[in-house]
Amino acid sequence: MSIYNVKTAVFPVAGRGTRFLPATKASPKEMLPIVDKPLIQYAAEEALSAGAETLVFITGSSKRAIEDHFDTDPELDAALLAQGKQDLLDTLRGILPSWAACVYIRQSAPLGLGHAVLCAKPVVGNAPFMVHLADDLIDAKVPCLRQMVKVHATHGGSVLGVQTVPKSETDKYGIVSVEDPIAPRVSRISHIVEKPKPAKAPSNLAVVGRYLLTGQVFEELTQVGKGAGGEIQLTDGIARLLKKEPVYAYEFEGKRYDCGSKLGYLQATVEFGLNHNKLGKDFRAYLKQLSKTL
Ligand code: G1P
Repeated sequence: MSIYNVKTAVFPVAGRGTRFLPATKASPKEMLPIVDKPLIQYAAEEALSAGAETLVFITGSSKRAIEDHFDTDPELDAALLAQGKQDLLDTLRGILPSWAACVYIRQSAPLGLGHAVLCAKPVVGNAPFMVHLADDLIDAKVPCLRQMVKVHATHGGSVLGVQTVPKSETDKYGIVSVEDPIAPRVSRISHIVEKPKPAKAPSNLAVVGRYLLTGQVFEELTQVGKGAGGEIQLTDGIARLLKKEPVYAYEFEGKRYDCGSKLGYLQATVEFGLNHNKLGKDFRAYLKQLSKTL
């Protein structure tokens, strides 16, 4: 039997992206491009590569562009065909395989990440599912969620993608304490807390935006009240979950870019530009030249 049997991925995309205003005034932050693909497409590709067949987007106001991106556009197709631009047509057709289904659920109010994930329950049901935060872009040989599906297939339970962060930054993340590793890069989580101040943080092992969760988390989320920042936090639902069933921290292989920050976004743009199959060579030459003037 295939290990890729987690079939649904949830993308909470309702956030307003105020850090990128005015770029995100009329366009979702998830549509910001890294070179030539929007962040949400990198997200969808990662989930599809991990076995997802249904993509659930939890949206809010000003997010219509995401629906349009994953939909067909017969007028544009016809125009490209008439111009003989078959390569661009192929690029558009490759955005989403025909067997994948997109579901859009509107989060009625910005009540927090936990609430956003709970909105997916009618589609997900009780099966394990993935959660992907598109701000966290991870460049990896094996896509991060695909690595995590393998961990889940081996050990069961829920799996969170984690990495160590500077102690001074613990208040930007969910932070976990772990037991001794049960396999390379895999440890059971004993404790999780949302955005603790560095002095109070139990470790500097941070959850980045990749989760593989069992359906039980929905039950826990319905019990969670307002937490850090006055919001219903996914972290608080996971804190309840790990008292009932195993939740593992997985130190994924790959490099993560915080595209929710301008600096992280620029870093991703430069490095993805350098690795781009068509632009990479010229961009590298340009940067070498530029660096002499810095
Ligand atoms: C969210 C989660 C946090 C996690 C982070 C990863 O925070 O609440 O636990 O560590 O994503 O990027 P946000 O960045 O939405 O404030």
